[in-house]
Amino acid sequence: MHYGIDDIAFSTTHYALPLSELAQIQGIDVGKFHVGLGQEEMSIPAHDEDIVTMGAAAAKRVLKDVDLSEVRTVLFATESGIDQSKAAGVYVHGLLGLPTTSRVVELKQACYSATAAVQLGLAMVQRHPKQKVLVIASDVARYDLGSSGEPTQGAAAVAILLSANPRLLRVEPESGLHTTDVMDFWRPNHRNRALVDGQYSIRVYFDSLTAAWQDYQEQGGAPFADFIGFSYHQPFTRMAVKAHQNLTRAIGHKLDSDQINAQILPTTNYNRRIGNSYTASLYVGLISLLENHPEDLTDKRIGLFSYGSGAVGEFFSATVVPGYQELLRKDENIALLDSRELIDHETYLKLQDYPEPTDGGEHPIASATQGEFRLAAINNDQRIYESR
Ligand code: HMG
Repeated sequence: MHYGIDDIAFSTTHYALPLSELAQIQGIDVGKFHVGLGQEEMSIPAHDEDIVTMGAAAAKRVLKDVDLSEVRTVLFATESGIDQSKAAGVYVHGLLGLPTTSRVVELKQACYSATAAVQLGLAMVQRHPKQKVLVIASDVARYDLGSSGEPTQGAAAVAILLSANPRLLRVEPESGLHTTDVMDFWRPNHRNRALVDGQYSIRVYFDSLTAAWQDYQEQGGAPFADFIGFSYHQPFTRMAVKAHQNLTRAIGHKLDSDQINAQILPTTNYNRRIGNSYTASLYVGLISLLENHPEDLTDKRIGLFSYGSGAVGEFFSATVVPGYQELLRKDENIALLDSRELIDHETYLKLQDYPEPTDGGEHPIASATQGEFRLAAINNDQRIYESR
C-alpha cells in the first residue's frame, strides 16, 4: 500500500498589487523585482479575508466529492495565526461542516509547518488507511513597509488531502532533516509583521538545503539523477533557482542554466503572481510543477524542500501516480489568479490598516470579496465568519 497526496488545491486573495506599481513609487528599476526576485505581483487580502477564509476556500476545492465522514483529522499549518489559543482550523471545520467526530490542531514553525503536518498526517493514514487527513497551509506574509522584505509579501492557502493509495503523489518514506537555532526571520508576539535579516536568511536557507539533502542521502533517499524536478519553498521564485544552483554545486552535480531552469521553472508559475505564502508556498510550487511541466510526469520522482526560518529544513520525495492529469485544475487556477482585482499603491496602503480592534467592541467588516467565505465582524474580541 502507498500513502500520499490524493488531491491538492490552492486559494488566494481578492486583491493583487503589481510589483511594477511598487517599483515606480519607490523609484526602483522594476527589473529588480521581475528578474532579481522573480516576482510580478503579490496577493493582498481584503479586510474581510484572512488565513481562515483562504483555508476554507482551498479546502472546499479538495473536499468536493469526498465523503466527509472519512476526514477525522484536520491539521492547520500557519505562522500568521489569528488567535493565541484557538486553532484556525476549528473555524474552517465549522465553515465546511466537517463531522464533529474529528480532531483539529494548529502547527507552527515558520514556513516549514505544513510539511510537518504532511508527515504527521501520513503516519496517521498509515495507521488508519480508511481515513483521510486534511492538511491546510494558510499564510499572509507581512513585512514592514519600506523594508527589504516588502516586495516579497503575498498570501495563499493550500489544502492537501492525504490518503492511502493516493490518486496524485506517493510520498516516499525517506526524508532528510536539518534543524538549527538561528535568528534569520522571526515575529515576536507584539508584532503583526515579521522581522528578517534578509541576506543572512538566504545563506541559512542554502545551508539547510545542503544539510537536509545530505541527510536524505544517508537515510537511503534516491540519487540526484533520479529526479525530474524539484519544488522548493519559494519566498520569491528566484530563490528556488539560486538554491538549486547552490545545491548542485555543493554536491558536485554540475548543471548548466538550461538544466537548472528545466528542473525548477515549472514550479514558479503561480508563486510569481502570488508572492510569499510562507508555509503554503512549497505546495503552490508543487501544484505549478504538476500543471506546467512539459513532460508526462507519470511515475517520475519529484524532490521537495521545505524551509522554515529559525530554522527547520526537510528534503523529501514523491512519485507521480498514473492518471494524475485528471486531477489537475490548470485553467481554473489561472482563472483564479486572473480574477484578482489589481490595485494601485494608494489602495495597497489603505489595505495595510486591516481590522485588529483591541477595544473589545463591535466591529462589522464591510464586504469587499465575492468569495464563499468572509470575515464578517470582530465583535467582543471574537471573529465572526460567514459563508454565502
Ligand atoms: P535586497 O537586498 O533589497 O535585494 O533584498 P538585492 O540587492 O539582494 O537584490 C536582489 C536581486 O535582484 C539580486 O540578484 C540583484 O542582483 C538583483 P542576485 O545577485 O542575488 O542574483 N537586481 C536586479 N536584477 C535585474 N535588474 C535590476 C536589478 N537590481 C537588482 N535592475 C532580499 C533581497 C531577499 C534580502 C529581501 O527581499 C528580503 O529581505 N526578503 C525577505 C527574506 C527572504 O525572503 N529570505 C529568503 C530566505 S529565508 C526564507 O525563505 C524563509 C521565509 O519565507 C520565512 C519563513 O520561513 O517563515 C522568508
